[in-house]
Amino acid sequence: MMKSSLSVSCLTLAFFFLSGAQSARITFRNNCPNTIWPGTLTADQKPQLSTTGFELASKAFTSLDVQAPWKGRFWARTGCSTDASGRFSCATAECASGKIACNGNGAVPPASLVEINIVENGGQDFYDVSLVDGFNLPVSVSTEGGTGDCRTSSCSANVNAACPADLQVKDVDGSVIACKSACIAFHQPQYCCTDGFNTPATCPPTNYSMIFENQCPQAYSYAYDDVNSTFTCSAASNYVITFCP
Ligand SMILES: *[C@@H]1O[C@H](CO)[C@@H](O)[C@H](O)[C@H]1NC(C)=O
Ligand SMILES: *[C@@H]1O[C@H](CO)[C@@H](O)[C@H](O)[C@H]1NC(C)=O
Repeated sequence: MMKSSLSVSCLTLAFFFLSGAQSARITFRNNCPNTIWPGTLTADQKPQLSTTGFELASKAFTSLDVQAPWKGRFWARTGCSTDASGRFSCATAECASGKIACNGNGAVPPASLVEINIVENGGQDFYDVSLVDGFNLPVSVSTEGGTGDCRTSSCSANVNAACPADLQVKDVDGSVIACKSACIAFHQPQYCCTDGFNTPATCPPTNYSMIFENQCPQAYSYAYDDVNSTFTCSAASNYVITFCP
């Protein structure tokens, strides 16, 4: 009896360490002055993470674990409230689930996105900050415990303050709370890199994407802005996503 339960514990322990080596912890920090509501979305029709949306008070942090391989995105909603009928909604980066959990819905643009692709067996992960779907708040992503380049990718500027009038999203009081990408605002192929503009060579930066590029050179300002926007790290044990870094 003793022997078999010990073997089971050893197996459990071995499994824990083996699977532990295949997982990464993602920590969310809210450095913003106000409460935010982060959202998570797992890509490729894979099962969603244990949480798809949660409230995070100013200066608070929380973590969740993901099993490799994992690919998906993170963002944060602002100006959220629950109406008299119990429906939850947000002023920016809404996921339109009517609840704090996004339940497999992505962010309705504009939203600053953190994209992370964690591979198996300590291979090379990819991560970035993307403003391809516009901007709502500053965000950074850094790694801990990995090997290789492993630099922090940050968009710390308030792009809303530099947002041109035709891309602005305003609150009821007239303040700019988010900035659309030109693709989202105008739905034209030269901004979305679609139709005849669907290669890096045929879809150069535009006067609109350059506004995002100048504010946040490390973030994707449009779909083919790869040169300084993709970050890599191998075998990172932790990712730290900081809103308002
Ligand atoms: C960008 O260029 C377009 C087309 O030339 C022009 O209509 C628009 O006003 C410009 N916008 C900005 C913000 O420079
Ligand atoms: C990439 O970053 C380097 C260093 O900041 C800069 O000199 C270069 O112009 C950037 N390239 C692009 C395509 O933005």
